[in-house]
Amino acid sequence: MKASLWREHVLPFTLLLGLLAAATLTGDYVLHRFNLVWVGRYMGIPGTLLIIGSMYYSLRKRKLVTSGNPKTLLSMHEFSAWLGSLMVLIHAGIHFNAILPWLATVAMGVNVISGMVGKMLLNRSRQHVQGQREHFQLRGLSKPEVEQAVFWDAVALGAMAQWRKVHIPIFVVFAVLALGHIVSIFLFWGWV
Ligand code: HEM
Repeated sequence: MKASLWREHVLPFTLLLGLLAAATLTGDYVLHRFNLVWVGRYMGIPGTLLIIGSMYYSLRKRKLVTSGNPKTLLSMHEFSAWLGSLMVLIHAGIHFNAILPWLATVAMGVNVISGMVGKMLLNRSRQHVQGQREHFQLRGLSKPEVEQAVFWDAVALGAMAQWRKVHIPIFVVFAVLALGHIVSIFLFWGWV
């Protein structure tokens, strides 16, 4: 039976993203339930620090620092960016007073999703489509027939391959917007 791209690759991705949403809603609910909304206000700080820490991997990848195993650092990058984003999402809560931090949050969301696409979907999906192609070729289908058979998977793959074009520029947008928000809050708190 033809293994489905959806079940093997897209579903785990959707689950991890769903987990982020569910954990955000649960965290927000718990903080409100126990009158701890102020904790969420400060959760922006560890969340931001985790996201900044996760960028150590980017420095290592570009050889700006030399210590640390790149593979381990990549796993740490993914984990700490995910956890930091969760903290920032709980921090953002469902309060709508200002537009700037929300724009930052949207940019962060696109950032997390594009990172997850790159990590979880792209390589394995590429192998999957290649495997399918070989499978159909071995069964003696002609080239156009093979392409026809993998058409929708190939379209999905093409869209996913764009992730890197999104991941880094949107990170810059995110960083600028987040910095604007953080500086204005620090000014307000009299911390700068
Ligand atoms: C050092 C890090 C951070 C600090 C100290 C901080 C602080 C704050 C504070 C005090 C508020 C409440 C403002 C109000 O009640 O009007 C707030 C709201 C918010 N923050 Fe942050 N924040 C930080 C990082 C971030 C980051 C990285 C993001 C998003 C990517 C973010 C997104 C938001 C959002 C969406 C809100 C709700 C805005 C609203 O009420 O409309 N924060 N933040």
